[in-house]
Amino acid sequence: MAYSAETDTRIDEVADGIYRIATPVPPSVVPGGFSFNQYLIVDDEPLLFHTGLRRLFPHVRDAIARVMPVERLRWISFSHFEADECGALNEFLAAAPQSVPLCGKIAAMVSVNDVSDRPARALGDGELVSLGRHTVRWLDTPHLPHAWECGFLMERTTRTLLCGDLFTEGGADHPPVSTADMLEPSEQFRLALDYYSHTKGVRKMLSRLAMEAPTTLARMHGSAWQGEGAKLLMALADRLEG
Ligand SMILES: [Fe+2]
Ligand SMILES: [Fe+2]
Repeated sequence: MAYSAETDTRIDEVADGIYRIATPVPPSVVPGGFSFNQYLIVDDEPLLFHTGLRRLFPHVRDAIARVMPVERLRWISFSHFEADECGALNEFLAAAPQSVPLCGKIAAMVSVNDVSDRPARALGDGELVSLGRHTVRWLDTPHLPHAWECGFLMERTTRTLLCGDLFTEGGADHPPVSTADMLEPSEQFRLALDYYSHTKGVRKMLSRLAMEAPTTLARMHGSAWQGEGAKLLMALADRLEG
């Protein structure tokens, strides 16, 4: 995306030690407007989930710097291999000398260990990584919502599911945290853009995410949603199978 307009990137704490970095894309750039979020877990081994587009790097970096020194980053993690998920990977690896990509095994094998300036720590399905106070668990979700290498991180202390492109909502401006219904607007977006793969087995994968009992669904495009995450994940399964 040729997005180089002045941005209004903000950073807000949405769960204990977890920050949402949000950049609105105005309707003049994308019809209806859009948003790109990254999540920063501040801990002994700080983790960034999604880097944002390469061209947004200075904005995301500066937002992180308002909370902690960027060079402290230890893990640069992402759900799957796309520009908004990891386009600024090498920029962050350069900015934080101790940092390493953290992704699923398929992502490491297919893309990351070629494109990245440093090799990834590749996680198996269900693998845990302790960051200090927080612990994340990698969950493989191949092709859900898209990309063979797709997966998510569940942060177990705050019960925050870093749910990437699930429940993507259009619009540029969303509050950092919301408890309002987001199933209907995200379903409208899905039906209009058809950005999901048409893979089978979504109920099994969504049930597994639901079993983690998240109370925050940290979306990449929209607010961080708070509520009974398991119920919403199963409602999504119903829609996808409907
Ligand atoms: Fe994506
Ligand atoms: Fe995305």
